[in-house]
Amino acid sequence: MREFSHMPTTAESRSPTGGAAAIKAPATPAAGTGIAPEDIKRYVQLYAANPLFGHHDEWVITDNPFRRPVDHQAVTQHNFSQPLKREEVFSSSALAAQRMLFNVYETDLVFLPDKDFAAKRADFESFYSNENKLLGELIRPTLEAHVFGFLDEEIDISGKWSAAAVKSYLQHLVDNHERSELDIVSAVLSSPDPEKAALALLIQVAGDFLTESSASARNLLGKFGPVQSELFKIAIDDYGYGVHKAKHSTLFESTMATCGLATDAHAYWHFYLTGSLALNNYYHYVCRDHSKFFRAIGAIAVGESLFAHTCRKFSEMLRAVFGDRVDTYYFDEHFHIDAHHGRMAAENVVAPAIAKYGDSVIPEIVRGIEELQSITSLADTDFMAQLAWADDLQGHKAAAARARQGGLSEETESTKTTVVLREGEPVITRACDADSLWLVESGTLELVAGHGSSIQIQAGEGLVVRRGRLQGASSVSPRCLYHVYQLKD
Ligand SMILES: [Fe+2]
Ligand SMILES: [Fe+2]
Repeated sequence: MREFSHMPTTAESRSPTGGAAAIKAPATPAAGTGIAPEDIKRYVQLYAANPLFGHHDEWVITDNPFRRPVDHQAVTQHNFSQPLKREEVFSSSALAAQRMLFNVYETDLVFLPDKDFAAKRADFESFYSNENKLLGELIRPTLEAHVFGFLDEEIDISGKWSAAAVKSYLQHLVDNHERSELDIVSAVLSSPDPEKAALALLIQVAGDFLTESSASARNLLGKFGPVQSELFKIAIDDYGYGVHKAKHSTLFESTMATCGLATDAHAYWHFYLTGSLALNNYYHYVCRDHSKFFRAIGAIAVGESLFAHTCRKFSEMLRAVFGDRVDTYYFDEHFHIDAHHGRMAAENVVAPAIAKYGDSVIPEIVRGIEELQSITSLADTDFMAQLAWADDLQGHKAAAARARQGGLSEETESTKTTVVLREGEPVITRACDADSLWLVESGTLELVAGHGSSIQIQAGEGLVVRRGRLQGASSVSPRCLYHVYQLKD
């Protein structure tokens, strides 16, 4: 149900009449937990201190869905009490918050390792322990306000909306989307290494596709009439009508396996970009809190409506990159079924919900439509920026040499951090809050920019890491000492 290609969310596009505001969308309630900020800060640190969320020995986490590194150091550095601004959504604070939120949400889902449960039983029990769940629940509203609060400022729904206007607006979005080539697909195809780029994209979507429909399935319980059963029909398609090999997540496993990727849930946790986590979390955010039910059906309607074309473009791209060896059936199946799901969601869920619950629910539905597109756009931007940087690590090595030749001074650097790494130390990926210059003084550093994407930096060499980019570092010599200079704008 993930959607990629973004439609502009201009004020005009949100107002079907261009007229004066007829219905004002209610703002998201503040975190409103009644808990003092200093207590929240303490709970956040306690939450992140769970050994399950500590650094891991390997970049790929094999068959243990409970190991989900958060980066405790980042958590202690940041204060999550204020909403981030849009320009901060790829910051280190955003990454830490999105990772924690994803963990909080996913304690509602069942994960089991494929093999050797006995060896992982302690992790299983810790992940689903009351302590982990209660701490997660205490910090969740604060983290949600931190990472999604900017949407309240950004999206203003005005105009004389009606059920017909919502329907034609959704159709307008579908029409525009179907004329699009999808920027992320074009970015993969024009990469100097399209295979690596395509794998990077599959990894970004795996966080959602391997548990497909889990967030929206939260709307199936309860009692609310025929709309409930229509939502159920969409879910049972995603769940393959109980035939495991037809379950959409199983189809996606086959796509990953035929590309040589692991199919364990969150094996590539370290490489999930902040934007991808935001998109996964957004579905949970609106589907878990049932006061956001109408926002959720707006998001589901637009997600389902646009996904068909997205899947067509993904399938074409995978075939072009991997030839016959890739199984594209996951995408081919969605190309057919999500055109149908989009119609079902618009005609059998959104329209009857408005008819039954009244026009006052329309702004929330439109808010869901707009917010999903906004978060999708961020996920796309993040992926393309990461790809551009990771594809040009040599160029960024040369940039570091030039910066070094030019001489570092107080005018070019703001802070300097010195780090010592030892070979075999546990690893973590982080996001950079500013463009930074990494200079290796001794030993050899391996800087990782994604799965299978890294560069070695010898003593005397350096690398420029761009703001917002995800990177991890390890030493490939017994000891490596390096300096990180945060560069001024
Ligand atoms: Fe599906
Ligand atoms: Fe679907």
